[in-house]
Amino acid sequence: MQKLIIKGKKFLSGSINISGSKNATLPILAATILSDKPLTLKNVPLVQDVYTMINLLKFIGLSVKISKKNKTLNISNNKKLKTIAPYNLLKTMRAGVLVLGPLLAKYKKAKVSLPGGCAIGARPVNLHLFALEKLGAKIKISNGYIYASAKNGLKGAIIKFPSISVGATENAILAAVSAKGQTIISNCAIEPEIQDMIFFLKKLGCNINFIGKRKILIIGISDFKKANHEIIFDRIELGTYLIAGALVGKKIILNKVNPKIIKTEIKIMKKMGVRMKVEKNKIIVFESKKLNSISIKTGAYPGFPTDLQAQIMVLMSKASGISKVKESIFENRFMHVPELKRMGAKISTKNNVAIITGSTSFSGAEVMATDLRASVSLVLAALIADNRTTINRIYHLDRGYENLEKKLKKCKANINRI
Ligand code: EPZ
Repeated sequence: MQKLIIKGKKFLSGSINISGSKNATLPILAATILSDKPLTLKNVPLVQDVYTMINLLKFIGLSVKISKKNKTLNISNNKKLKTIAPYNLLKTMRAGVLVLGPLLAKYKKAKVSLPGGCAIGARPVNLHLFALEKLGAKIKISNGYIYASAKNGLKGAIIKFPSISVGATENAILAAVSAKGQTIISNCAIEPEIQDMIFFLKKLGCNINFIGKRKILIIGISDFKKANHEIIFDRIELGTYLIAGALVGKKIILNKVNPKIIKTEIKIMKKMGVRMKVEKNKIIVFESKKLNSISIKTGAYPGFPTDLQAQIMVLMSKASGISKVKESIFENRFMHVPELKRMGAKISTKNNVAIITGSTSFSGAEVMATDLRASVSLVLAALIADNRTTINRIYHLDRGYENLEKKLKKCKANINRI
């Protein structure tokens, strides 16, 4: 198994091009099932989860041509697809469940492996199934599979989500865009990645519009157009490198971004004393010596993203005073805390609240990644730690961060993969 070796306390200077968003690419890839016309996706982050989703689409029967050089996928699907998403392809990536809606919409049936839980929580899919049943699907779960069918096709409905879910919102939209008649979905998640998926669906000819902050009106269509789409930038990757720049930057320029999308993160980091210059499509972050503690709570967009919670804890460790993080999305998303503590962090957790004592100095250690975002918080700690850190199980990192060590090395970090 590969590891990362990082020698800390090297000041970083240079520029980083932020990649396309993994969490926009995955639902958009699921959406490609809907159209029989040729589709082109640009600015695709070539990370493990995207390859897993591409393999799932190929298994189902789509043709996906990858051009690594210009991060482009050419997709065509002009034959009858399989309506099965098998366990061996979904076991490592829960987002595979997003093919359920489009397969059901297009072929009136689907058999999709029930996604397992993961390190950060049970990750149920009851809200996904609730929405599909509202649209007329019959759902049965047995031997680890979801069997869905709608022999007369899906019919538009009123769907009121009892709680906000990114994936369930995506599955509901992907099913409703070709359901007969009108669908109104309320209490939707409105993450930028969902808005990018909606932008792509409109290019396919879908009739889908927001009629309220978290309310969407969809009129079903039956044939889809060909489309060409550039994936939105990855706001979590941007947030991660902003924190890296504040911790060990001299000056890092983060390119190919739209700062308007991360207003909450910018507000919080500025309040902590992070020095940055925000421009139209880039952010320049500078070494930020004087950091202040803060209390934050993660929440659905536009709240502070749970996917940046592990990373901001490292920044809080360098701030003076006591900071607090309340994790309100997942039930077990503090797996990074024991590993950070092995590097010197002073963090105590009770239920879903973490208390971080600041002005900590980190020292290198042998640590282990547990989930995608936890692993990158270990990279951040390693960058500011004295001496050397070895991070094991970095396949977690490779799921969602494209060329991480290359991007950091280009900014003069002492980081090597072995
Ligand atoms: C998406 O996961 C993201 N993944 C996650 O990013 C992100 O952390 C999460 O949204 C929250 O923003 C992708 O987009 C591929 P949810 P998702 O449904 O859709 C509960 C990363 O690091 N829930 O919004 O699975 C659920 O257990 C990943 O890139 C139900 O109870 O998140 C959680 O507590 C990690 N029933 C809460 O809702 C359901 O049917 C929010 O989950 C669905 C969810």
